[in-house]
Amino acid sequence: VHRLRSVDNLFVVVQEFKDYQFKENKEDALKDLEDLVKNLPWTDPLKVWELNNSLKKKKTKRKKPNLQSTASKEKLNEDGEEEGEDQKDASKEEDCAQNAAGAEPAGSQGSEKTEGVASRSGGEEEEEEDNEQLDAKEELQAGSGRETKAGDGKTSEGEAKVLKFRVTCNRAGDKHSFTSNEAARDFGGAVQEHFQWKADMTNFDVEVLLNIHNNEVVVGIALTEESLHRRNITHFGPTTLRSTLAYGMLRLCDPQPTDIIVDPMCGTGAIPIEGATEWPSCYHIAGDNNPQAVKRAANNICSLLKKNESKESSSSLGIPLDIIQWDICNLPLRTGSVDIIVTDMPFGKRIGSKKKNWDLYPACLTEMGRICTPGTGRAVLLTQDKKCFAKALSRMGHIWRKAQTVWVNVGGLHAAVYLLKRT
Ligand SMILES: C[S@@+](CC[C@H](N)C(=O)[O-])C[C@H]1O[C@@H](n2cnc3c(N)ncnc32)[C@H](O)[C@@H]1O
Repeated sequence: VHRLRSVDNLFVVVQEFKDYQFKENKEDALKDLEDLVKNLPWTDPLKVWELNNSLKKKKTKRKKPNLQSTASKEKLNEDGEEEGEDQKDASKEEDCAQNAAGAEPAGSQGSEKTEGVASRSGGEEEEEEDNEQLDAKEELQAGSGRETKAGDGKTSEGEAKVLKFRVTCNRAGDKHSFTSNEAARDFGGAVQEHFQWKADMTNFDVEVLLNIHNNEVVVGIALTEESLHRRNITHFGPTTLRSTLAYGMLRLCDPQPTDIIVDPMCGTGAIPIEGATEWPSCYHIAGDNNPQAVKRAANNICSLLKKNESKESSSSLGIPLDIIQWDICNLPLRTGSVDIIVTDMPFGKRIGSKKKNWDLYPACLTEMGRICTPGTGRAVLLTQDKKCFAKALSRMGHIWRKAQTVWVNVGGLHAAVYLLKRT
């Protein structure tokens, strides 16, 4: 499952409650969550967690501790530089907090701040969907050299080792009387008491997840240390797409060996880099009109090549991808020469504007129609500006036929991926 390309985070489910009845009173609701801990079926999920650790140890050499600090990664987030997409929905009632007994967070329900604990904190969390952790957990799992068993709390040498843990709570919904901080704190306290584990927000062996979405509650144990969508990108831009979503878009158009695949608005290159990595027998061409974006994309390719070199893999010879600065309205490509176009269009929020999209989208569809092979060519386009897109497409019936629409959540926004076939 770690090789699945469209998965952001993996966890094993301890128990799922489809219609959990939260008490209205905060104290009562939190007490119920606390009481839940001792009644959950932990044994099998912990075996899966243990198996996951042993597989990881076989698969990877011991990793060096992750030198990039949580703080510096958070800085990227604050700047809006790293997050999967630019678009955020401030109306969403969502938050995330990590906690465990003994780590009392600051902040009230109103602010949802989680200062003092290792988390992405503050108002930003209310707006975001994903709450993945960035901590250097592998230090523990690969670095100590001691096999840790969750069940008996012993190392392979027989000595007792108290496991370290943290609880991460992701909460979404406006009907809860408690914050994610409070849920994580009280649930964490009960976990500590139940297992006699030690709370540690940064160096933990076990990460217990408490996901609350309206009336749905899922308790899980994390199997991934870092969100898998970050795999290709080192130089982030304001609208960098998740590699996992890029993979899904590429897959939707079913690339065949020798296909020419173009991303005409590539930004930092998330789509073509994922494409060149996963479909190396296709040729990938990408461009953007913003020189800074082209530079970032080129830097991302360089980083990937360096990484491949150190792995001595077959791909260390290079990747089948060119990046060019161009304008989508006038592409330097021959008519009918491209098999597939996959792109993430400006939503008109951080990049461009909704007003500009009324001119840009029809021009894009016309030029993409020109370069795409009639009869077999296809395009997969992502946008949140659905109204503008629908209008532009309705005038292009002679060039493009809509074959499928897939709804996607991009950074909390309701966006669409359209699969178009060239007529
Ligand atoms: C939503 S972003 C793409 C983000 C990209 N998928 C990534 O992972 O970084 C849209 C991109 O379209 C580019 N763009 C806007 N107008 C363009 C044009 N006329 N020609 C080429 N690129 C354009 C912007 O510079 C921006 O990088």
